[in-house]
Amino acid sequence: MYHCFIHFYLVGLERDESEALQEMPAFENFVHMFTESAQPDLSLAARADVILADLRMDAETIAAALHAAGIRRLGHSPELHRPRGLFCAIGNCSSCFMTVNGQPNVRVCVTRVKNGMRVEEQHGKGVVVT
Ligand code: FES
Repeated sequence: MYHCFIHFYLVGLERDESEALQEMPAFENFVHMFTESAQPDLSLAARADVILADLRMDAETIAAALHAAGIRRLGHSPELHRPRGLFCAIGNCSSCFMTVNGQPNVRVCVTRVKNGMRVEEQHGKGVVVT
């Protein structure tokens, strides 16, 4: 008897979706392992045998939702207090930092919007919540 491992990587799934997948019985002679993250992580993806990602087109980012609502200024620069908005729009800079649900320095260009989120302009460099 042998056992093989299958490493599933779950990206951006809702909690109930993730739990349902993890509760499914493993394939015969296989052991299922799971890792998950809200945003894609290349190092986790590289170790996975199977990647299950939520690619729904209606799951827009916070920045896209704000842009659709006509909001272009996402904050101010920490030192000169100049207005900031989208710059790279792919999560590689700090131009779109906002405070989301009390957490500062969230890149809203790559963070998906969800019901009930509290999104605020960030003042200064943000108070780091521990
Ligand atoms: S605009 Fe550059 S990280 Fe969001």
